[in-house]
Amino acid sequence: MQQEDILVLEPGGGKSQILARMVREAQVYSHILPYKVDLARIRKINPAGIILAGSREELSALDPSRLEELSELGIPVMDFQPEELETEKGRELIQDFLFKVCQLKANWNMENFIKKEIEKIREEVGSARVISGLSGGVDSAVASALVHKAIGDQLICIFVDHGMLRKGEAEEVRKTFAGQFKIPLIYVDARKRFLDKLAGVVDPEQKRKIIGEEFIRVFEEEAEKIGDASFLVQGTLYSDVIESGDGNDVKVKSHHNVGGLPEDMDLDLIEPLRDLFKDEVRKLGELLGLPEEIVWRQPFPGPGLAVRIIGSIDEEKLSILREADAIFREEIREAGLSREIWQYFAVLPDIKSVGVRDNQRTYAYPVILRAVSSRDAMTADWSRIPYDLLEKISSRIIREVEAVNRVVYDITSKPPGTIEWE
Ligand code: XMP
Repeated sequence: MQQEDILVLEPGGGKSQILARMVREAQVYSHILPYKVDLARIRKINPAGIILAGSREELSALDPSRLEELSELGIPVMDFQPEELETEKGRELIQDFLFKVCQLKANWNMENFIKKEIEKIREEVGSARVISGLSGGVDSAVASALVHKAIGDQLICIFVDHGMLRKGEAEEVRKTFAGQFKIPLIYVDARKRFLDKLAGVVDPEQKRKIIGEEFIRVFEEEAEKIGDASFLVQGTLYSDVIESGDGNDVKVKSHHNVGGLPEDMDLDLIEPLRDLFKDEVRKLGELLGLPEEIVWRQPFPGPGLAVRIIGSIDEEKLSILREADAIFREEIREAGLSREIWQYFAVLPDIKSVGVRDNQRTYAYPVILRAVSSRDAMTADWSRIPYDLLEKISSRIIREVEAVNRVVYDITSKPPGTIEWE
């Protein structure tokens, strides 16, 4: 195998992803494995160089013999001072290591990735039929667009509208995939089916479970109608397959929610994004011509608005929340803040309060606005949205959504809060 990759070893401090990104920014592909991974696995990857996600001092304190073992492989090894992460000096050190010590060429980029991946997909699939579940999210959209570029109409996309989507979302997916890309798209309007199942359900975990299970059922029914498919596209990312620093086996996070497709379907998986980080997936999406609204879509939970309506769900509440949320999103976008804020959305609680409108007493719903900055959703800080913008959003919601008479802003970080309200 050609030696053109770098291996980053993670001792457990969680720095390896940033390092791996720094290597990729220099146009060299990088893998991540646990610090104590078997030497046989390292030999199999046969990297041109190894970067340790920690300093030599830190690592010898951890296990002095490991450094020796690694040096005996005959592969150049570089350690990394934590304070040099994401600094100019750190970048220079990495470049020296890649191009002077390891003699690598800077040729890993998205254009080359697309070419190689297309060949790989064609080879793997042959003339078989492939299905893909679109969720409206970035990953499934980019994965499907890439597979379509490789095999054209052999791909059929299935989009299950469970009715818990935001305003305009279902149309956006249909317009892009069926309209712009001309990808055969099966749109399943399952809104009533989900709403019926959810009627009267208050418990958040119960809502998630119902939606997750129903989604799989609907998807399976549709896949069965197609009949002769042999492959299923999944938008698994590299961050989902990275092993932890303690040497455990590969763990793919299984989110038991929408998008988590049936595991026992008799289909082989195609995972064209499994080598990429999220920002690389966005870049790929842009190159494939997907619209900005899809490529830069903020994370959206699989169960959708079901976990943003506190208590039981009905059509009226969904429609109130959709309208308020759409105003919030529109204003954030117009203020140019949409890429800065990690997630921003409206929540509808199950209380009403007193207000006045046109000299008349009102008794209506409040809407909670939530906006947070985050790196990975594990922790989050509430966003300091300018007061004037909050004022504008609040007055628009009150004016345009009649069922709402009060707007409040959530100023809780995570922890102790969570990002979502349910
Ligand atoms: P929390 O609320 O736990 O959310 O701070 C962390 C991140 O996960 C998203 N989230 C979900 N995503 N299915 C999903 O696909 C879910 O059931 C779910 N619950 C929360 C949330 O939007 C945030 O990005």
